[in-house]
Amino acid sequence: MTIRPAAASELEAVYRMGYDVWGERLGLDAYLAACRASPKYAAGAWWVSAGGDGVPLSSLLAHEILLPSGRPAVGLGSIATPPALRGRGHASSLIAGFLRAREESHGTEVFFLFSDIAPAFYERFGFAALGPCPGKPGSILMARANRKRLDGLLSDPRFAAPDYF
Ligand SMILES: CC(C)(COP(=O)(O)OP(=O)(O)OC[C@H]1O[C@@H](n2cnc3c(N)ncnc32)[C@H](O)[C@@H]1OP(=O)(O)O)[C@@H](O)C(=O)NCCC(=O)NCCS
Repeated sequence: MTIRPAAASELEAVYRMGYDVWGERLGLDAYLAACRASPKYAAGAWWVSAGGDGVPLSSLLAHEILLPSGRPAVGLGSIATPPALRGRGHASSLIAGFLRAREESHGTEVFFLFSDIAPAFYERFGFAALGPCPGKPGSILMARANRKRLDGLLSDPRFAAPDYF
């Protein structure tokens, strides 16, 4: 299993991974066109996990964000695995591998995501639920940081839910 940035030629396959959840009401062509035109998608970096044959098995979008303190953090989104490949640990491998890679390469200490599914899935990787998100019905803001950093962040009056997504 390799965890790496997605190649431009793989983005179509990446977009398709979440089509059943995020695009079905649009129809495939309109959904793919919306993905290609999305400023939110263009602003982030797509990462994938890939098997021995190099074919992407799961994907996520990573946004660079700045905390009120000026420290960098990463906001994750659009985590998806193709329906036929779900339940085999591919998203788990990708999330764990991405977090490890970012910690090692950039020393990143704070990660966010908006969970549309039961937060317990993300708690496995050290994320803690901060609460529902105004303006994002059904989404729960989650953060991953050590206790001291998280307490400092939440007690900072300048802190607000990140707006990358
Ligand atoms: C969520 C998702 C990325 C998981 O991918 P995956 O490769 O199947 O993940 P893994 O095999 O590593 O882990 C599977 C776990 O995902 C969790 N999970 C998947 N869908 C879930 C849902 N709708 N609600 C709660 N947990 C869910 C379960 O805990 C499951 O554990 P289990 O295998 O013990 O039942 C995949 O189901 C998906 O692409 N869903 C559609 C897009 C989506 O909703 N993304 C999340 C947005 S926050």
